Parts: sequence; C-alpha cells; structure tokens
Amino acid sequence: MGGDPDERERRLFPLITRFYRETVLQDLEGVFVFSILLLLGFILYVCDHRLTFLNLYFIPILLAGYFLSARSAVLGGVLTMLVVGFIVVEKSESFSQELSGQALYLYLVVWSSALILAGALVGRLTEQLRERFAGARRSLERLGELQEELRASNLRLEEKNLALEGMKTKVEAVLHYTMDPVVARLVINRQLRNEKREVSVLFADLENFTEHMETVPPEASVRDLNRLFGSMEPILALYKGHLDKYVGDGLMVEFGVPYFSDQRAVLASLAGLKMQSRMAQADFPWKMRIGIATGPVLVGLMGSENRKNYTAIGDAVNLASRLQTKCPVGSLCVDERTHQRIERWFRTRRIRHGLAPGEAQRLEDNLAALDELLRLTPRAELCVRAAEICALLGEPERGVAYERRALELAPAQADDIHRSMGRVLVSGSEHAHVPIKGKRNGVAAFEVLGLRDPLADHARVPREAGRLFEELAFQVRLPAESLLPLEAAEGSLGHGEVTAALSAALADAMGLSEGEKRDALLAGYVHDIGKRSVPDTLLANQARMEELAAVDREALRSHAGEAERVLRELALPVGDAVLAGVREHHERFDGAGYPRGLKGHGISLLARILQIPDEYEALTAWRPYHEPWEPAAALSEIEKDLREGKFDPKIGDVFLRMMKSGLP
Ligand SMILES: [Fe+2]
Ligand SMILES: [Fe+2]
Repeated sequence: MGGDPDERERRLFPLITRFYRETVLQDLEGVFVFSILLLLGFILYVCDHRLTFLNLYFIPILLAGYFLSARSAVLGGVLTMLVVGFIVVEKSESFSQELSGQALYLYLVVWSSALILAGALVGRLTEQLRERFAGARRSLERLGELQEELRASNLRLEEKNLALEGMKTKVEAVLHYTMDPVVARLVINRQLRNEKREVSVLFADLENFTEHMETVPPEASVRDLNRLFGSMEPILALYKGHLDKYVGDGLMVEFGVPYFSDQRAVLASLAGLKMQSRMAQADFPWKMRIGIATGPVLVGLMGSENRKNYTAIGDAVNLASRLQTKCPVGSLCVDERTHQRIERWFRTRRIRHGLAPGEAQRLEDNLAALDELLRLTPRAELCVRAAEICALLGEPERGVAYERRALELAPAQADDIHRSMGRVLVSGSEHAHVPIKGKRNGVAAFEVLGLRDPLADHARVPREAGRLFEELAFQVRLPAESLLPLEAAEGSLGHGEVTAALSAALADAMGLSEGEKRDALLAGYVHDIGKRSVPDTLLANQARMEELAAVDREALRSHAGEAERVLRELALPVGDAVLAGVREHHERFDGAGYPRGLKGHGISLLARILQIPDEYEALTAWRPYHEPWEPAAALSEIEKDLREGKFDPKIGDVFLRMMKSGLP
C-alpha cells in the first residue's frame, strides 16, 4: 500500500508546483495572513522565549512590503500588533517570565512600531522601484516604436532615392541623345554656369558627303555616318572634349569646358590627329577636314526657355569653322594661338595662301638650290630671286634677310633692292595669311603633321637610348592610347617614352639581361599610368606637388599604388617585377619616399633604375610650372640627389657615366 518512494516523489512534485501556481501565486495576501497566524501559533505554543521570537514577524511583513504593497505591509503590521497585543493582554502570564508589566507593553510598542515602519519602508521603496522600472520599460517600448518608425521612414527614403536615381539615369539616358554625357550630368546636378572662358574649338567636316549621298541609298549614307560618329565619340571622351553638336555631316567640339583644362589646345590637337588616323584606318567613303582655334568664348546653356543647349559663342568658334574649310583634305589645321600652345610637342607646317599642294616643296627645293649657288657665287640677283621665293612661301622675314644680303653685295642697286624688299614684305605677308571670311587681314594657319619624337632630341636623350627603344618597343606592348591623354592633360607629353628609353638604356649599361631590359622599358613607360585614377580636375591642376593642398597631394601620390589596378583594367600583361617597379618608383633609397617608405635594397631593382630617368626627364622637359633645364644642370642635380641619398648610388653612377658619354 505504501508504494514505491520514487513513484510517490514523482506524483508529489507536480502537486506542489500546481499548489504554488494556483494558490500561492493567485492569493499572495491570503498566504501572507495565513503565515502570520501560523507564526503566532508557533510562537505562542511552541517557543519558550516568546518575546525574542516575535522578531520572526519581520519576515512576512518585509515580504509583504516587497511582494504586495506598503499599504498591505502596514495593515499586516497593525494586524500582527493587534493580535499579539490581544494575546499579551489576555494571556500576559505566558510572557511574564520574560518581562513584567510596563516593560512588556513598552517592548510591544517599540517592536510593533519597528515592524510597521519596516514594512512601510520596504513597501514604499519597492513601489518606487517598480514605478521606475515601469517608467523605464515604457521609455524602452517608446524607443523601440520610434526606432521602428525611423527604420520605416528610412526604407521609404531609400525607395524614394532609388526611384530618383532611376529617374536621373533615365533622364541622363534621354539627354545623351541630344547632349554630351558630362554636360547632362552637370545639368541634372545644377552645376553649370554661363561664363567667358578660353577654349579650343574643333570643327570637323566631311569632304564630298553631299555628292556621295546622291550615289547611294539614304539608309546606307545614314548608317555609314552613324558608324563614323560612333567611332569618333570615344576619342572625344578620351581627350575630354565636349561634343557640342552634330552639324549635318560635321561636328563641333570644345576642349577646356565644362571641365577646366589648361592643356585644352594639346588635347584638341591630339583628338584631331586621332580622328584623322581613325578615318584613315576605317573604310569610310569620305575624307575629313578638321579646324581648331583657341580663344575666349562665351559658354553656357543657350536657347529658349523651353529648349537649351550647352554651347560656345565667339570668335574662336567662327575661326575654327572657317579654318576647317581651308584645311587640306584629311588634315588638321590650327590657328596661331593653338599653334603657340602645341608647337613644342607637335610637328606643324605653315599653310601658305595661294600655293597648290606640292608647290611649297618645289619652292623649298629651288631655295635650297639658290643657297648652294649663293655659297659658290654670291650675287645680288640670286639673293633677290631667293627673297621672292620666300615671299611666295609666306616668309617675309626670311626674304628680307636675303634682300639685306643683296644690298651688301650690290649697294649701287639699292633703289631696286628696296623696291623689291617692299614687294617681298607685302606679298610675303599675303601668302603667310589665309584669307578668312569676316577677317580683313587673313590669319596665320598651320597644318598639324603629327607628334614630335621626344627621343629625337639628342641633346638630352643619347642616340643609343633611342635606338634601344626602337628595338625593344616591338617586343613589348606599350599602352600609348591610354598614356597620351594623361600626359596631355598634365602637359608632360613624352615623359613615359623618354623614361622608358633611358631606363632600358640604363639596364643595358648595368649589364642586365634582355628580359630585364624589356621590363625596364615597360616599367619606365607605364610608371605613371596610375594617374588614370586621379580626378581630371586634379590632373589638370598645373601647380607643383608642394603647392597642392594635403588632400590633393595624397590623391596625386596615390598613382603609384593605383597603377596595378589600372594595368589590370587595361588588360596589359605585366610581370611581378614590372608591377613592383611601378609601385615603388617614388620610394627613396634613404627611406624618405612614398607610399611605404621602403629603404635601400628593400626597393625593387626596376624601381631603383627607373626613378633616375624619371627625374631626369621631368627636369629637362617643359612643365607648366618650369622651363626645361639644360641636361648638364639636370645631371648635376642628380649628382646632388645621389650625395643626399635619394637614389641607389651604384645605379646613379652608371646613369651619370652613360649620359655623359652619350650626350654631345
Ligand atoms: Fe610618378
Ligand atoms: Fe614620372
């Protein structure tokens, strides 16, 4: 009947739990009263020292203060006091052995006061604590609600932003049909303003387009024309040209706006040359004429309230358009101002008015023959004849020099010679200037033939270095297309090529292998290609590195570290040695360089090689902030740098020896 004790325990436990949940928790107040009565019985009938054990009443009273309320604790205290008081009065003999008479009642008063006070105090403190907890919980809940609201409004904002960006992209896409992408972006962002600026304006037009159009169906003409324009746009984008508009079978482009570039004439000329070479490569049924003029124009959004176009108005626009009509077919012609800004980098030829194509060469040959005759038999009439040829060639100053020589040879014919000199001056000036509609005196115009070869300047680049470049350049892929626009924007055309040639020559002089020479050539050529990641506006900044703001200086310095990413973008196959050479070309042998402050032989060999030609080229070439140094002065500067520990001393010695023996 007794059953298994384990089994009993298993049954008992749920019963106790149930009792606790359903009775104790549901009626705390009843439990409280019950426990007071239980304690009373215990103290009165079990304990000998009743007065001492009366302190046990603190337990239910404090618990009542904590779990119920201050009011319940005080009521409980009063109830206990009354019950105990009643018993003391009724059965005083059961307490008399401990305390007698007044002392007993005094004890009871003090005890019951302490009991009620303790209950009230704990109850009040607990209530306050609960109120604060409840307040904190309410604040937390409100905070949670606010966070939720914030998240929801952020989401709405993000959605709106996305919608806005999408709309912007759509508007941009629509605007691209009628507007240059750069201008479209500036218009949307409200960053365009009307202003007077010096720009280089390029006009291109097709020869015989109308005649050709009559021989083929219109669809074929439009298709070819679209293909042609499509192949020109990437060139214009590469050289930062703003495609203003298509004018029938021609186009008008501005350089130097909307983004400022000091090298606008160089960028325009390079773009023009590139356009002509693209025309020559592709099978287009036409040829192109290009005219470029540089000058101050008014630029901005022009048109009616409903329809505007970002364009330029001014003399240079008209001049470029007229020059284009005077240009030989398949060529690029520029005005005098453009010529002044580009002649140090470009091969050009003056356009002589009134000379048929090829006639200029015949006249130059005649002049050379006359020079030879004059050397053998100096005679005044030969000088006069030479002066007349100079007049036809549009070179009055050169003609006047011959006339002066004639005067020296035959002073008796001074009158005739002076008359001839007058004719040479007038006619020479006429031939030197191309008549342009709207210009009374005509203008000087030049045909751009191509870029000068920077290696042909043997006063600063040894012949041997040029020869080695020619030999190795066939074996290495050099990204000229990507480097030229960067160098043009900076005004440092030829920097990569000269650095490459001298680096390869230096590697050769150090007795390095063929592979290492090729690596030196490639690393020298692409060492500044990381500037592709430098913002256009900063690249166009013509200040010295030291004059730039710290943030701009850092952006410009980042080109060394960015080169690897750019080379990967260009899909140019380069080995680890070349990558290290490019990455470390601004480190210094004494550890004071950047980006990592590497020192001595911790810098890769290729970097230690190419950084010397890099400096030599930068010193001996023109830069917007300095005139070219004499090669000897540049070599002295490098000697000084070597003494200061900037470069590897051994490589520096080889470089100095190579240059001193290779230069005239
Ligand atoms: Fe650099
Ligand atoms: Fe450089």
